[in-house]
Amino acid sequence: MADVFTVLGQDHQEVKRMLAELERGPTAATGASEAQLALRKKMTEELIIEESRHEALEEMYFWPAVRDHIQSGSTLADEAIGQEQAAKQVLANLDKVGSGDTEFERLLGKFIMDAREHIEFEETQVWPLLRTALPAETSAELGKKIAEGKKSAPTRPHPHTPPSPGALKAAGPVAAAADKARDKLTGRGSD
Ligand SMILES: [Fe+2]
Ligand SMILES: [Fe+2]
Repeated sequence: MADVFTVLGQDHQEVKRMLAELERGPTAATGASEAQLALRKKMTEELIIEESRHEALEEMYFWPAVRDHIQSGSTLADEAIGQEQAAKQVLANLDKVGSGDTEFERLLGKFIMDAREHIEFEETQVWPLLRTALPAETSAELGKKIAEGKKSAPTRPHPHTPPSPGALKAAGPVAAAADKARDKLTGRGSD
């Protein structure tokens, strides 16, 4: 069974791949065609889905473990959750603009920079401490919960939902169901 670092690490690789692809363009400013702009919007929607699920699951399962098992865990978790909440607001705004809009590239550029920093923060500041503190069995359990939670995790950023695990567990399934209904209507998402 994959441990929590493997499961989250796979998500990080996938998000980084999407960021690199979006960064390559072309953009409206560099001469993208209508079809390329439509694809760019679609790719951004996929990024929002992937990122929303990932951060929601970290807030439910990963940060509570960081708080419980690392001495400086609360400080680390607070800082990371602050980054996640800020990113959700950027994504919520990004979701509202078309890929032909200059605001789209400004927001996407900001998200790309912040997301890379956030991943780096988690992998270099938090993971090494948690790796030594977390029993292997707990790490495997968390990995399983996160992997399984993907099916029911919210697919939109929800920047106004408080990032506490309890609030997410209560609001999560309702929000996820509403997200899925919207995904179906707008034809986005693959499942
Ligand atoms: Fe995160
Ligand atoms: Fe992460």
